[in-house]
Amino acid sequence: MNIKEKVLSELILSEGKYCSGGQLAEDFGVSRTAVWKAIEQLKAQGCRIDAVTNKGYLLKEIPDIYNQAYVESLLKGSGFQVQHYEEIDSTNKQAKMLAGQNAPSRTVVTADRQTAGRGRMGKGFHSPTGGLYMSVLVRPDLPLTAMMSITACTAAAVHEALKAFGIVTQIKWVNDLFLNGRKICGILSEGSFNAELLKMDYLVIGIGINLHPDPHLPEELKTIVTDIETETGKKINRCQLLAEVLKQMKKYFDEISQRTYLKIYTENSCTLGHRVRTDTGITGTAERFTEEAGLIIKLDDGTEMVLSTGSAEILK
Ligand code: BTN
Repeated sequence: MNIKEKVLSELILSEGKYCSGGQLAEDFGVSRTAVWKAIEQLKAQGCRIDAVTNKGYLLKEIPDIYNQAYVESLLKGSGFQVQHYEEIDSTNKQAKMLAGQNAPSRTVVTADRQTAGRGRMGKGFHSPTGGLYMSVLVRPDLPLTAMMSITACTAAAVHEALKAFGIVTQIKWVNDLFLNGRKICGILSEGSFNAELLKMDYLVIGIGINLHPDPHLPEELKTIVTDIETETGKKINRCQLLAEVLKQMKKYFDEISQRTYLKIYTENSCTLGHRVRTDTGITGTAERFTEEAGLIIKLDDGTEMVLSTGSAEILK
């Protein structure tokens, strides 16, 4: 951690109390001027800091800047270990690399931005600064049938995490969260299957959430995607959201065999009841979900089909 990060950690963890500049300088073994410079840099990054003679510095609001000490304090006792990057090609790619090096379950990779974010079906995922990009490595001991519901379970967990911040999303089968008809979150699960043991070696669950407006949003995405701030006016702190998403993932994964996620997934679905077209061109009405969150579609001849993976475009 550099001085600026250390100062920010200290200000956040002091929770509303003034921190003396002299004390910070002594704690970090630097001059008062170095502390003052760090404060100026933080202010330039948008941190609201009060400076009062003889009292010191007070953080008026926790800024939306990744801070390792803050994240660790929020995740204390959860077993999650976060590796953060300002910029990376893809957090999923990095988490898979770590999985190959025997990183433990609950290793999490996050980034401020991705240069080659990965989406489902070989597509990219536009990942500018202003979003939460995270990949969670898990080594679940689950039957293969339960593995099919991991993405849907994650969608329910992210839905619940956002609800804790007053944001109520709709879940589009199978892995997208929507606000006002446009996508604010995508989920991509990747993994390695052990054919000998007939179980997953590991799973990497990647989540991308658009929090703030992107001034450079490509033209072709403007009618498809949006962000939470634009739709609700709310500015969610990334560290707090990261911790809440992990907390909800743990809860719903622990309960996956009881399928508690399915109630949330069903109640907040924007797919059910609509005419849909699958990626293979089949049309019908989205009726209900299987126990593993497969989509049951009623075809026009009255028969039903189950879609376990792929996508279902909602027809207007
Ligand atoms: C989709 O909507 O197609 C899935 C998008 C998943 C994006 C996330 S962002 C964090 C993680 N790293 C990636 O490269 N992709 C996932």
